[in-house]
Amino acid sequence: MKAAVMRANNAPLELEEVRIDDPGPGEVLLKTAASGICHSDLHVIEGGLPVPPPCILGHEPAGVVEAVGAGVTDFTPGDHVIGCLTSWCGVCKFCTGGRPYLCPSQYIGRAPESKPRLSTPGGDAIGQFANLSSFAEKMLCPERSLVKIRDDMPLDRASLIGCGVTTGLGAALNTVHIPAGSSVVIIGCGGVGLAALQGARIVGAGKIIAVDAQAWKFDIAQKLGATDCVDASDGDPVAAVQGLTGGGADFVFECIGLVPTVQQAVAMTGRGGTTVLVGVVPIQQLVPISAADLTLQEKKITGSYMGSNRFRFDMPKYVEFYLDGRLHLDEMISSRIPLDEVNEAFDRMRKGEVARQVIVFD
Ligand SMILES: NC(=O)c1ccc[n+]([C@@H]2O[C@H](COP(=O)([O-])OP(=O)(O)OC[C@H]3O[C@@H](n4cnc5c(N)ncnc54)[C@H](O)[C@@H]3O)[C@@H](O)[C@H]2O)c1
Ligand SMILES: [Zn+2]
Ligand SMILES: [Zn+2]
Repeated sequence: MKAAVMRANNAPLELEEVRIDDPGPGEVLLKTAASGICHSDLHVIEGGLPVPPPCILGHEPAGVVEAVGAGVTDFTPGDHVIGCLTSWCGVCKFCTGGRPYLCPSQYIGRAPESKPRLSTPGGDAIGQFANLSSFAEKMLCPERSLVKIRDDMPLDRASLIGCGVTTGLGAALNTVHIPAGSSVVIIGCGGVGLAALQGARIVGAGKIIAVDAQAWKFDIAQKLGATDCVDASDGDPVAAVQGLTGGGADFVFECIGLVPTVQQAVAMTGRGGTTVLVGVVPIQQLVPISAADLTLQEKKITGSYMGSNRFRFDMPKYVEFYLDGRLHLDEMISSRIPLDEVNEAFDRMRKGEVARQVIVFD
């Protein structure tokens, strides 16, 4: 099969012929239908998230089951599925405590002594990113990375639910409780931020303020529910948000992952408000913030990982949200591209020229 392989950091992905193994116990072989391109893939390429090459990236997929391994009872060939990087073990304290997205087993693939899931035609192992690796024509995943969805859900839009939508929507629906009428700020209107914005709209937030440095994104943000927009490239976005909210917002979602925008997020949060960190700041970087500001104004900061999901419960629900018109996915897709264009897609993402790009396979 054809796949885009990361051979080194900060270099274009290589389009290569790759061997994929047959499904072993508990594994499912998929034909990839579509894969969204998330900024976290770019973080890996740039070294901000450490994943050793060679590796096949891509973690926002939808596909169709081709074959299942021994013991797989939840899937049969022909099933339409979404893949999620938070696979779970089902028995640890996080899984049994209701937070399976924190399960520490999620990055465990096959045992090191077994045949690799992915390899070169010569048999050299190629790493599988987050048990998925969707920048490839086929995928071999643990069944606990997958959820079955309705056959009438278009698979290109379904793929967005695999990461960006579940992350942003879940940050607003699961990680925090947003009382109706609350003021909400979304910093960063990429795939993740536009999904968080829709989560704020779905829970009945009052003012929903979209902040981005690319003013063209406000057209989409307004269609998806933003009541106000702040152009971060024109003046001080913190002062603008404080002006719009009378001193700061109830909830601020940072959906970029930069040190200055995390600091802005805390500064935009009002007294007693909550800052939700969704963007991934490269792990080498620390963020200075005023602790006194948190104490004296009782601001809270929380991280939000993969929308605090229980994805077998959440993703079919998000599919229903799309099909009943509450969740807008068509507006989030800037372009559908073939796998061969993946490097150009990352260039467009670096320049902020796109919302979500989706690789579609024949
Ligand atoms: N918490 C999680 O579990 C999780 C899951 C998925 C992705 N992420 C992270 O979320 C972040 C966003 O991902 P994405 O795919 O939506 O990215 P993206 O590149 O599509 O969107 C980022 C947006 O930020 C805007 N932007 C950039 N610099 C800005 C600035 N200084 N001021 C204002 N706006 C600015 C860009 O114009 C763009 O609209 C990334 O850090 C990604 O790694 C986190
Ligand atoms: Zn992602
Ligand atoms: Zn577990």
